[in-house]
Amino acid sequence: MCKTAIIIGATSGIGKELTLQLVKDGYKVGITGRRLNLLQDLRNEYPRNIEIQQFDVSNIDTVSNNFESLMNRLGECNLCIISAGTGDINKTLSPEIEQKTIATNVLGFTAVIDWIFNYFAQHNGGHIVGISSLASLRGSAAAPTYNASKAYQSNYMEGLRQKANKLNKQIYITDIRPGLVDTAMAKGDGLFWVAPVNKAVTQIYKAIKNKKKVAYITKRWCLIAFLFKIMPRAIYERI
Ligand SMILES: NC(=O)c1ccc[n+]([C@@H]2O[C@H](COP(=O)([O-])OP(=O)(O)OC[C@H]3O[C@@H](n4cnc5c(N)ncnc54)[C@H](OP(=O)(O)O)[C@@H]3O)[C@@H](O)[C@H]2O)c1
Repeated sequence: MCKTAIIIGATSGIGKELTLQLVKDGYKVGITGRRLNLLQDLRNEYPRNIEIQQFDVSNIDTVSNNFESLMNRLGECNLCIISAGTGDINKTLSPEIEQKTIATNVLGFTAVIDWIFNYFAQHNGGHIVGISSLASLRGSAAAPTYNASKAYQSNYMEGLRQKANKLNKQIYITDIRPGLVDTAMAKGDGLFWVAPVNKAVTQIYKAIKNKKKVAYITKRWCLIAFLFKIMPRAIYERI
């Protein structure tokens, strides 16, 4: 089978590095994002392996047309990675930040994952990967919408995994939960265990190849995930 993938949000950070690793591994990749010049730079580097489609996932009415346009040029797709996301520290609960985060991480994410799920359900199945976050596990005083939106993504992916089973479709869903990775998204005070992008993406790609259902990246973040899960609410809400 021809190896063809779509990466939503590939202009920088994790999505860009995933594009490079997939191309190196022989994939043809359709990449998206809002910054057209960055999409063009990547296509110019690998003209035979990369197709581009500029679009903003928060314009949910355009998601379908943009996918179709990209799919027409790729011919097929077996793997779709949703890396597009936004998040800001929002100590004052600024409505602009809250709404932007919801528009991208909740409404945009839903429009994208639903389109590709239905595509795979109608074709020969496929593999969907969502980059949620370790932040999906608990709330955050500094960025409440970011953590809540990531919890939404993880929960949504679990629901679609159940749906694929009920429909008896070969649709694999991998929920990637990074801790901290050295990109523009790693914001805030006292950051630790910030992984180089290359290292994090090498582990993400391995989890994709192994069709993992959930993977913490880098591996050491499993420990924090465990602590997050067992920490009593009365303690968590005071730290
Ligand atoms: N870095 C970390 O520490 C970390 C930790 C946990 C989870 N994550 C998650 O990893 C994912 C990738 O983030 P990153 O760390 O690689 O940061 P990044 O370098 O800022 O990448 C974000 C990507 O999302 C795209 N994007 C953002 N808003 C978009 C929109 N409205 N429409 C279309 N594309 C949009 C950006 O492209 P354009 O700006 O060109 O549109 C960019 O390609 C995010 O979902 C993030 O929440 C990151």
